[in-house]
Parts: sequence; C-alpha cells; structure tokens
Amino acid sequence: MDHADSYSCAGTYLITVRPFHDREFDLACKIQEFTEPEQFEKYRSRFADSGKWADHYFNIAIDVDGVAVGELQVRHCRLSMPPGTAEIGIRILPEFQGRGVGTEVLQLSRAKFFDEGFHRICGSTDVTNLGMQRAFEKAGWRFEGISRALMPSADGLPHDYRVYATTRWDEM
Ligand SMILES: CC(C)(COP(=O)(O)OP(=O)(O)OC[C@H]1O[C@@H](n2cnc3c(N)ncnc32)[C@H](O)[C@@H]1OP(=O)(O)O)[C@@H](O)C(=O)NCCC(=O)NCCS
Repeated sequence: MDHADSYSCAGTYLITVRPFHDREFDLACKIQEFTEPEQFEKYRSRFADSGKWADHYFNIAIDVDGVAVGELQVRHCRLSMPPGTAEIGIRILPEFQGRGVGTEVLQLSRAKFFDEGFHRICGSTDVTNLGMQRAFEKAGWRFEGISRALMPSADGLPHDYRVYATTRWDEM
C-alpha cells in the first residue's frame, strides 16, 4: 500500500487515500472532467502538490484496489476560516460511483483529519445532487441548513447548497 495515508474496506473493495503518482496526471484530469488545455495547465501545480498542504488547499487520490478513481480536496483558509475547521469536496469517476466509495471516503476523512488536529469538517452540495446528500447522510454527517444562491450553475442562476458537517464531538 504505497504512500497510503489511511484505509478502509467497503464490502470487497480496499479504499485508501494517498497522493497521486506522477504518472496519473491524465487520469487526475479525467477525474476533474477537464477538457480544455488551459484547465490542464492550471491544474499542474495542484497535482504536483498532491498529498501536501499548499496554501489553503490539500488534495489526494481516492484509491480503490490500487487504482486512482477519484479525488478528495480539503480547504482551510487561515484568513477566512476559524482554526481547526476545514471544508471538503469529493469527485469519483462515473464508473465507480454508487458503490459506497464516497460514503467510505467521508468516514475515512473524518478519522484522518481529526487525527491531524481538525475538529470540524464540513461539505456542501447542490440541492439537486441527491447522491452526495445520501453519501453525507450514510456517513453520519449532520445536515446544518441551506446556503442560498451559493454557486453559479449551468442554468445561469446561482444554486442553493445543502450544508453537512461532522465534529469531533459527534456520536457516530
Ligand atoms: C457524489 C459522489 C461523490 C458520491 O460518491 P459515491 O461513491 O457515488 O456515493 P455512495 O455510493 O457512497 O453513495 C451514494 C448514494 O446515493 C444514492 N444515489 C445516487 N444517485 C442518486 C439519485 N439521483 N437519487 C437518489 N439517490 C442517489 C446511491 O444509491 C447511494 O445510496 P444507497 O447506498 O443508499 O443506494 C459521486 O457520485 C461523484 O463523484 N459524483 C460526481 C461529482 C460530485 O457530484 N461531487 C460532489 C460535489 S459536492
């Protein structure tokens, strides 16, 4: 288990989070659904910093049985967020969605980042993203409310987002 930070089992899969390998740049761009050359170039430095905090941003690969199938991003901005708090985002390749990986990664993130000193991790998702909402709920993260008109969307209007969080003191 090369460079694995933590691991967990969902059914028959071995799920880990670990830095991307250099050879996985194209795969990481596919996970991000990049199509334009400018997107690839802009992403290069973030990819090179995988597994390290770079400014306010941290990203690692989600690995299922030795293959990178997604990305976990974590954000902590010292200028705008209280100490000990972080926000996360997850992306999983379509062919690996719906198999419990997202739920497992949320549980695994909780353990990993609480071990590293954080006490609250939150995430939010478009009100239409039922899969992510279900993953938060299955992982035991609590619904905290709606951030209204938060994120620009393809239909031209900012969408409402549902906010979920887990704290060190929550009973799981
Ligand atoms: C959202 C995402 C991270 C969830 O990860 P995942 O591995 O697919 O999630 P899981 O398999 O652990 O759980 C998903 C649950 O949602 C359910 N689900 C998925 N799509 C659904 C839908 N349209 N309506 C209702 N439930 C849905 C699944 O059935 C599953 O629940 P179940 O186990 O009770 O059947 C993943 O699907 C993904 O990467 N999507 C694209 C990027 C994205 O939306 N990222 C989140 C941005 S905030």
